[in-house]
Formats: sequence, structure tokens, C-alpha cells
Amino acid sequence: MLIGSLRSMAFLLTCLLVFCVDSVWGNQHSETSIYLDNITRILDRLLDGYDNRLRPGFGGPVTEVKTDIFVTSFGPVSDVEMEYTMDVFFRQTWIDERLKFEGPIEILRLNNLMVSKIWTPDTFFRNGKRSISHNMTTPNKLFRIMQNGTILYTMRLTINAECPMRLMNFPMDGHACPLKFGSYAYPISEIVYTWKKGPLSSVEVPQESSSLLQYDLIGQTVSSERLKSNTGEYVIMTVHFHLQRKMGFFLIQTYIPCIMTVILAQVSFWINKESVPARTVFGITTVLTMTTLSISARHSLPKVSYATAMDWFIAVCFAFVFSALIEFAAVNYFSTLQANRELRKAVVMKAAAQEAAAAAAAPAPATGNEGEVPSGYCLRVFQENTHTELLTHPHAYSHTHCIFTH
Ligand SMILES: *[C@@H]1O[C@H](CO)[C@@H](O)[C@H](O)[C@H]1NC(C)=O
Ligand SMILES: *[C@@H]1O[C@H](CO)[C@@H](O)[C@H](O)[C@H]1NC(C)=O
Ligand SMILES: *[C@@H]1O[C@H](CO)[C@@H](O)[C@H](O)[C@H]1NC(C)=O
Repeated sequence: MLIGSLRSMAFLLTCLLVFCVDSVWGNQHSETSIYLDNITRILDRLLDGYDNRLRPGFGGPVTEVKTDIFVTSFGPVSDVEMEYTMDVFFRQTWIDERLKFEGPIEILRLNNLMVSKIWTPDTFFRNGKRSISHNMTTPNKLFRIMQNGTILYTMRLTINAECPMRLMNFPMDGHACPLKFGSYAYPISEIVYTWKKGPLSSVEVPQESSSLLQYDLIGQTVSSERLKSNTGEYVIMTVHFHLQRKMGFFLIQTYIPCIMTVILAQVSFWINKESVPARTVFGITTVLTMTTLSISARHSLPKVSYATAMDWFIAVCFAFVFSALIEFAAVNYFSTLQANRELRKAVVMKAAAQEAAAAAAAPAPATGNEGEVPSGYCLRVFQENTHTELLTHPHAYSHTHCIFTH
């Protein structure tokens, strides 16, 4: 009896449960379809009569486009091309009164399929060279419409932009690489740009996004300016990325080798000046090494016509090395000259001594044996006018013929 009633109660409970679940699911299903129906209807109504050729408030108030940039990867920077590359999420926000809607949802989150049917700002990068809007697997675009007509439009871009550099202080230099953008078609009376989160935080560069090898990204500043041109006055938004070069690479690649070469060139002064081959090898080798270093140092630079700080350093190193070689050549020349002079002095003195000895041994009357030059030295001594104090009989010396008379 008790068991029977329990069984019937369990059966009833199961029935109730099954019924409940079924009704909830069914309700949810129908609600979803109504919901989707409503959204589709909202979107259709938004686009009904919408002309995407006209900016919001056409003929009326200025459209304000608020922008901000999130940098996902900064770098690399190319000195030779004077340009830099970065990956960004570029975000623009504006208000389009025509897209206001009433509905069960606060924000319509859409993608690139909606973008082409709606007016969007014709922003372009003024100093961009080869920027890419990513298309894989579909165009990387996000589009949101809020109930009050505020629109958020973001896209993922790889921007390659010019960065003019002055390399006077290279490699201890820093640069401010600009990114300039603005509207291509609409002058200031139609569209103005502003920074969405204020000048300080509108451009975000997370620490880990920097993929720079040669530089440190110190920070970024934003500004906006106006530019007058033939077709009107435009707003230009500018971001400056401030870069400071790291010296490590050039220290290893150029500075230390240069210093070593100069030291090597100075070491040659410790080598005996008579060992000409050794010192010549030192001199020539160091000069050639410096030449190679100075050529390779310019490889990482554009072909600028002025001298950079590194060029000056290399020039001074080169001067040291070169002067070491020149000094050796001068030392060698003068020491050879001195040696020759001493040799000559010795020979002349020897000749004079012999002559004196001969005169003492045989004081025979002179029979005019003129022209008897003891050896070839007389002539050379005469030519160089170094004889006067050497000769034992200076009075007997003829200035024109080099003849000894006794
Ligand atoms: C769908 O829209 C109608 C009016 O257009 C509204 O009455 C209804 O509540 C909406 N349904 C939902 C689920 O929001
Ligand atoms: C991106 O893809 C769209 C179609 O999805 C195509 O029309 C467009 O030309 C593509 N753009 C580029 C730059 O490849
Ligand atoms: C429009 O709505 C969004 C979110 O609903 C809000 O953040 C924004 O401040 C609103 N804008 C205006 C101008 O009311």
C-alpha cells in the first residue's frame, strides 16, 4: 500500500519534471526567434532610407570623430629607409543620429559585413608608405551601434610610416617618429578629429608590444594641428613615438675594435726601430683594419652626406693609426740619415789619419801629384759641405776640385 503510493508519486513527479523542461525549452526557442526577428527588423529599419554617401549631420553640425590607438606591436625601425612599422588597433567613434534605435538590446555588435552599408570616416595616414588592412580570414573590422547612435568602428592595421631622422649624433641619437592621420575628403568645416581618452592615454603602447632591437621606446605624445592646402583646411592628428638608440651594438661592432686597433698601432713603438719589417707590418695592418672598420660602420646608416658622431670617432682613430705609420717612416728616414753621416765621418777621419801617418813616415818633396783623390769620399764630402772641421789640412783643400796638395 505504502510502496504503491510512493511509486505513483514518483511517476507524477517525473511527469511534472518532463513537462516543465519541455515547456521551458519551447518558450526559449520561440523567444529566441522573436528576438532575432526583432533585431533583423531593427537593422533593416536602420538601413531603410539610409544614404551611406552622406556624413552624419550633412549640411548641419560638424561630425566629431573621436580616435584612439592601441599598439599591439611596435617595430622594427629601419635607419637605412628612415621608416618604422607597427601593428595597431585603430579605433574611431562618432555619432550618427540616423542610426538611433529602440529595442531589447543596448548595443548592436556587428562586423565588417555591416560596415560597407554605413557611412564611415575616410581617414588616411599622411606619412604612411605601405599600410595594410588585414583581411585574414575576413577583414579585421569591428562595428558597434549603440542605442543613442554612437558608433564604434575599429580595424587592425599594419602601418609602415616615414620617420625623418637627423643622424648627427649617431649612435647616441634619439628620434621622434610621427604618425599623422586625418580625413582625406572632408575639411575642418565637415569633420574634426579629437582624442577619445584625452592627450595622455589615447595612444596605448603596452610594454610587451615593443619589438625593437636597436631602440628603446621612451614614450609617445599626441597633438593635433591644422593644415591649409588648396582644397581647404584640414585637421591633422599627430602621434610622436620617442625613440632612444641603444649603443650596445655599435660598442661591440665599432668602438671596441677601433680602440683595440689604436692600441695595437701604439704597441709598435715598443718594437726596435731597426726591425723595419715588423714595424711596417704593424703599421700597414692597422691602417687596413681601420679602413675596413670605417667602411663597415657606415653599412647600418643611410647615405647621409654629413659626418655622424661615429664618423668623427673613426676619423680620430684613423688619424692615430696613420700617424703611427708616418712616425715610423720619419724615424726610419732620419735614423738612416744619421747613420750614413756617422759612417761618412768615420771614413773621412780614417782617411785623414792614414794621410797624416803617410806624411809623417815619408816627408818627401811634393812633386805635384795633383788629382790624387784618396777615394770617392772626397767628392761626396765636398758636395755636402761637411768636411771643413774634419780635414787635418783645411787650407790645402780646394773648393772646386777636391784635390790634395802637399
Ligand atoms: C519585439 O518587438 C515588438 C515590437 O516591435 C515588441 O513588442 C516585443 O516585445 C519585442 N520582443 C522582444 C523579445 O523583445
Ligand atoms: C579583402 O577581402 C575582401 C573580400 O572579403 C576583398 O573585396 C578585398 O579586396 C580584400 N582586400 C585586400 C586588400 O585584399
Ligand atoms: C551613448 O550610449 C553609450 C552606451 O550606451 C554611452 O557610453 C555613451 O556615453 C552615450 N553617448 C551619448 C552622447 O549619450
